[in-house]
Amino acid sequence: MRIRSFLFAAGVFFLIGCSGGGKTVEEKPEIKLNNRTTAKEIDASRTDASRTDAFSYLTADLESKGIGPITALNLKRRINKDLADEGKAVYTRLCTACHRTDKKFIGPEMKGLLDRRTPEWVMNTLLDPEGMIEKDSLTMKIFKEFNNVIMPNQNPTEEEARAMLEYFRTLK
Ligand code: HEC
Repeated sequence: MRIRSFLFAAGVFFLIGCSGGGKTVEEKPEIKLNNRTTAKEIDASRTDASRTDAFSYLTADLESKGIGPITALNLKRRINKDLADEGKAVYTRLCTACHRTDKKFIGPEMKGLLDRRTPEWVMNTLLDPEGMIEKDSLTMKIFKEFNNVIMPNQNPTEEEARAMLEYFRTLK
């Protein structure tokens, strides 16, 4: 019942958005509303967000591994410098249109990333950002904070994603 009225309300917003010529970015979450599970999850995350009103993308969550292909990843204590250099090159090529290392830009800064996220969560974000926005409640909250801008999949290989992760470890 709750979901149905949520869907109805969302539909109304969507119509108002269309007729009022609202910004396209604000309409994006509604596109998924045919899918009941997603709607339910967005609903749940809205409730969460109102409960923890102090949430910011810098809030650490070192529990969530996200939802995606990577379920376990143990990092060696020592950073692999060669791998990090490789990762830096990939990051510069694929990501700097939207990310800066040390300040918020279109997306969050990468500095301190591994102090606030698990390696698995980061890998899943790099390998399947759209899936994370649909299924992962932490990503949904960050997505809302960044004006509903969807991070597009840059299609890195798993090796490239792993190399970028190593580079992010060097950004303290
Ligand atoms: C078109 C812009 C865009 C591009 C290109 C992009 N991102 Fe993002 N990224 C975002 C936005 C916006 C967010 C936050 C909202 C979201 O997740 O959709 C984000 C979120 C993230 C996060 C989560 C950060 C946190 O603090 O939790 C990581 C990690 C990330 N991006 C890494 C990357 C990497 C690595 C690349 C390159 C392979 C990349 N992004 C390419 C826009 C982009």
